[in-house]
Amino acid sequence: MIFAANFKTNHTRASTKEYLLALESLAQKSSDEFYIFPPISALCSSASKITIGSQNAYPVNNGAFTGEIGLEQLEEFGIKTILIGHSERRVLLGESQEFIAKKFEFFKNNDFKIIYCIGEPLEVRKEGELKVIEFLAEQFNAIDINYENLIIAYEPIWAIGTGVSATNDQIALTHKAIKKICNKPLLYGGSVNSSNIKNVLATQNVDGVLVGSASLDVQNFFNLSK
Ligand code: PGA
Repeated sequence: MIFAANFKTNHTRASTKEYLLALESLAQKSSDEFYIFPPISALCSSASKITIGSQNAYPVNNGAFTGEIGLEQLEEFGIKTILIGHSERRVLLGESQEFIAKKFEFFKNNDFKIIYCIGEPLEVRKEGELKVIEFLAEQFNAIDINYENLIIAYEPIWAIGTGVSATNDQIALTHKAIKKICNKPLLYGGSVNSSNIKNVLATQNVDGVLVGSASLDVQNFFNLSK
């Protein structure tokens, strides 16, 4: 199973370092895969058991893009993994599907492992499963769904950071439909925590989880894999 932690705008460079040391020792005997996405100020090289990825980057080597980092800054830490399409970047930061597809193409051409996030807002979910799938299908526009280094994360926006996870039936139905569009490892994300993890992982077509809040404490995050 894949366990990915998205710290978002949490943790410092110092606390990330402690976290990674602790996780490295906890995960020593684990056969699961761990990915950590720390804030950009805490990027560092991957350790043997844990892959470090970037929550974001601009699709350039370097240049005049105030506030952004590019490939050159990621290469300094040997980062080869990136999250693309997270709903917080789509909604709060206004990233369009066109721009997201450009980012995807750039990092694909640089052989990155891409965790590509998709998810619908509540008003679409309320219209039913068919509308949800139509909405998600559009988030694959101009995306190379056959890219070999691709992992998909389905994260319904209404479930992110709300404490209200999708139900098992919703996850099962939606994941089945996504797998038909794109047959890649598929993570579920959105209020995954110690109470629902067993059910989420037992759901068909779930290959792992992308976790925000419940990943911030290292023991809590590791326990999700036990
Ligand atoms: P959450 O965030 O676990 O806090 O809901 C998940 C995510 O946005 O990746």
